[in-house]
Amino acid sequence: MKDTPLLIKALKNEAIERPPVWLMRQAGRYMKEYRDLKEKYTFLELCQSPELATEVTLQPIKAFSPDAAILFADILLPFTSLGLEIDFNPGPVIQNPIRTPEDVNALKQIPIEKTCPFTQKIISNLKSELPNYLEPKSNALIGFSGAPWTLACYAIDQTPYKHFAGTKVFAAKHKKSFIELLDKITQVIEDYLLLQIEAGIDAVQIFDSWAGILPKEQYLELAYPPLLRLIENIKKKNIPIILYSGSSSHLFDSLLETGADSISIDSTQDLSAAFKLAKGKASIQGNLDPALLFSSPEEVEKLTQNMLDLRPKDAGYIANLGHGILQKTPVSSVKAMIDCVKNN
Ligand code: CP3
Repeated sequence: MKDTPLLIKALKNEAIERPPVWLMRQAGRYMKEYRDLKEKYTFLELCQSPELATEVTLQPIKAFSPDAAILFADILLPFTSLGLEIDFNPGPVIQNPIRTPEDVNALKQIPIEKTCPFTQKIISNLKSELPNYLEPKSNALIGFSGAPWTLACYAIDQTPYKHFAGTKVFAAKHKKSFIELLDKITQVIEDYLLLQIEAGIDAVQIFDSWAGILPKEQYLELAYPPLLRLIENIKKKNIPIILYSGSSSHLFDSLLETGADSISIDSTQDLSAAFKLAKGKASIQGNLDPALLFSSPEEVEKLTQNMLDLRPKDAGYIANLGHGILQKTPVSSVKAMIDCVKNN
């Protein structure tokens, strides 16, 4: 029988010998191997070619042996199913962003198999490649998507530059249309995640990076209902779910009620307090500040150990950062963090 990977045990709050570790955005520009590929290909080409996306996913696996791989893709790829044309520079650029309720009405519904035909092949490539590089207990493949609210932020504002004020204004001026937009986005996310699940991923992470910019009342009214629906439908497939919500300590009690198996907290939240509040309802993932990886490797090792020492021994915990790895992060510190967890 296949050994259950540490990540899956931690997600189920089962006792484990040590916490699993992986890092959000573990593939990308801080790695020379990635930058070398970027000399020849655009980011979208890397995402859309099964061979290249497989290679990029494996780069951090080969370099650091974390306890999980995360599919190389982007939360905006499924926008093409709505007829939104995406590009990256390196931040997202949408040729036809949502500006009016008419734009919401005009969104298309193109089957995800047509717009992301590469996803299934990347996952099946990874399923056969990963055992060559990871021990059974570290062999888990994470698929992911954005959350409805965070994707709506990008569909309207495209960049975080103005803290998505345009999205909040749209929601206030055209609430009915905004809810329709969320519904259309949610359907596409669900199709995208089901495609990944059918292709064989072991767990799902939903990125609600911008959840925290909403006051709680608006969060509960706008962002929460489609997220709950999404989680409920994905859970029917019996796949563990990690929910990452940025700057969300004011939302934490509601996040614990979503049914997500793990809540991924950012660096502004107190890890010990999160364990206490979670009371075993969900495991916790996080939350070293990505900027701290610019400290020396010795310092990173200390900081990582301090973080690990905060966990109650009987709680499900996944060591990670509080947000994605920053560009130019020293590779030696990434290695120091991962090795420190693995030596526990
Ligand atoms: O973790 C991994 O290894 C998987 C890779 C991954 C990418 N994007 C690759 C990427 C993941 C999990 C994402 C998710 C994603 N994309 C999120 C949620 C997580 C978060 O950070 O909040 C968001 C908000 C996006 C949208 C997005 N894509 C932004 C804001 C940017 C610009 C980022 C930047 O650092 O400038 C992208 C582009 C992007 N996505 C890059 C990579 C490697 C850089 C593109 C390049 O190489 O030019």
